[in-house]
Amino acid sequence: MYSIAQKILFALNPETAHELSLDFMGAAERLHLLKPFVKTVPAQPVEVMGLTFPNPVGLAAGLDKNGDYFNALGQLGFGFIEIGTITPVSQPGNPEPRLFRLVDEQAIINRMGFNNKGVAHLVEQVKRRRYNGVLGINIGKNKVTPEENALSDYEKCMDAVYDCADYIAVNISSPNTPGLRNLQFGELFDQLLKGIKNKQAALAEQYGKYVPVAVKIAPDMTDEELESVVETLVANNIDAVIATNTTVGREGVENSTHVDEAGGLSGAPLTEKSTLVIKKLAKLLDGKMPIIGVGGIMDGEDAAAKIAAGASLVQLYSGFIYRGPELISESVKAIKVAKSVVSD
Ligand SMILES: Cc1cc2nc3c(=O)[nH]c(=O)nc-3n(C[C@H](O)[C@H](O)[C@H](O)COP(=O)(O)O)c2cc1C
Repeated sequence: MYSIAQKILFALNPETAHELSLDFMGAAERLHLLKPFVKTVPAQPVEVMGLTFPNPVGLAAGLDKNGDYFNALGQLGFGFIEIGTITPVSQPGNPEPRLFRLVDEQAIINRMGFNNKGVAHLVEQVKRRRYNGVLGINIGKNKVTPEENALSDYEKCMDAVYDCADYIAVNISSPNTPGLRNLQFGELFDQLLKGIKNKQAALAEQYGKYVPVAVKIAPDMTDEELESVVETLVANNIDAVIATNTTVGREGVENSTHVDEAGGLSGAPLTEKSTLVIKKLAKLLDGKMPIIGVGGIMDGEDAAAKIAAGASLVQLYSGFIYRGPELISESVKAIKVAKSVVSD
């Protein structure tokens, strides 16, 4: 059924298709019409960051930026859903067009620029939570906030979402907010993480519960940069690392008409690059911190490869757009098989 829907949706402008399909799914869920059409996903519980995930396959950030659709998306069988990136104040994002499908390459280029309705709107949506899987909330800074004041934006978001998030993801790796990726390096990174950990400790005391914080990183780093990132993550006791966001590289899409569009590239051309980052992270971290693997999972084998590289959980975005909900159960099954082979 998804292949028919996809033919119709892919004939539309990508942003219209995105909104239309999510609105349709949201309405179907509210009318209790969604469940009968959804395949059940096998249970495969896994403990990560002190949380129990019903299965290791989640939805990556950016698809449901405002938390408007997670109740419907949750019915498709994801083990967890990450909503956001949300910023303290609503902002329009970059001018359209800003989302491009590279169908031949099974890829997407986006320069959305954190278009979102602001954190207060997201929190209102989360109050209407019917979804009972794990819910992550991905936070970012407003475009107008200078890099040196970034911490204050992350703190504002943490204040707002702490009580309703199962985990918080700190996004410092989108290529579409000028200067954001600079926050991943050096003193700026260390100061940011220290501030975030202090905020987490204060909120844990205030609410009497510990909400883990994961940090999402870019795939475009040298080995030295990655080493220094890991050192800072470990020194600051961050609860997990999410690898990776989209790439600014254009390897594998040189022949596409969209190759010169600015923005982050995701999907099949990112598969190997992000798996390599996970492998390097796993070696550097040596079990000190769990890894959530994301980037170019287009089939079950790609999902299993991320786990084999050292990830404890995986997330889907572009693969979900190209393959639809069947990719969720396919990934869960492939991970299960790969794990049983390892433990035999
Ligand atoms: C249209 C689009 C919007 C995205 N928005 C966000 C976002 O707001 N925050 C974020 O952390 N990642 C965002 N991402 C990155 C994805 O979460 C994911 O890390 C990346 O696309 C790689 O995974 P994939 O190859 O499976 O798509 C976005 C990706 C796409 C394609």
